Amino acid sequence: MARLKLGVLISGRGSNLQALIDACAAPGFPASVALVLSNRADAAGLERAGAAGIATAVVSHRDHAGKQAFEEAMSAALEAAGVELVCLAGFMRLLSPWFVERWRDRLINIHPSLLPAFPGLDTHARALEAGVRFHGCTVHLVRQDMDAGPILVQAAVPVRPDDTEESLADRVLEQEHRCYPLAVRLLAEGRARVVGERVLLDADMTVPEPLLNPVP
Ligand code: GRF
Repeated sequence: MARLKLGVLISGRGSNLQALIDACAAPGFPASVALVLSNRADAAGLERAGAAGIATAVVSHRDHAGKQAFEEAMSAALEAAGVELVCLAGFMRLLSPWFVERWRDRLINIHPSLLPAFPGLDTHARALEAGVRFHGCTVHLVRQDMDAGPILVQAAVPVRPDDTEESLADRVLEQEHRCYPLAVRLLAEGRARVVGERVLLDADMTVPEPLLNPVP
C-alpha cells in the first residue's frame, strides 16, 4: 500500500504532530510523515520529529526578504520531500493566497473550536465567555480566509460549569489528537472528497445520537 506523504508545519510544542507521528506508526495507517517543517528553530516539536527519526527543516521568515520568498522556500522543501498533503499543526504564520492556492485541497489545518464559531485566537476563553454548552475542535481544508474552509472532522466537547480556560483547553486538545489522524485517514483512503466548498464522505459515518448538554 502506498502511504500518503505528509508534511507537518509547526511553530511550537507539536502535540498534534505527535498524534500524527503515533498514528502513522500503527501498522496499516495509510500515511507517513515525510517532513516536519518549522518556522522557528526552537520549536519543541522538532525534537519529537527527531526522536521519531523523521526529517526536519527550519525555514525562518526572518531569513527571507518577504513573505513570497519565505513561502517559496517552504514549498520547495515540501516538494523536495515528496509531500502530498500539508498539515498545519500549530503553525503560527498566516499563509498568503499564493501558498494556499499552490497547495489547494492538499492543505489542512486543525483549529481549537467548532468552526465557524470562534475563528482566531483565545478560542477557549471566548467559548466560556459566550456560555456555549459545547466547544470543540475542527480539522478543515485551508482557504484564503483564516480558519475557514471545507470541514473534514469535528469533535464536540461539553463545557462544564466549573471549567476554566485551561481545563477546557486540555479536554479539547485530547480530542484534537483523535481528530487529526482521522481526518488524514479519510483523505488518504479517498473516503472524503471536496465537492464545492464542502467535504463529502463516501459513507454515512455520522455519530448515531444527538447530544444534549446538560443531561435532561
Ligand atoms: C492546537 O490547539 C491547535 O488546534 C492550534 O494550535 C495548537 C497547537 O498545539 N492550531 P500543538 O503544537 O499541536 O501542541
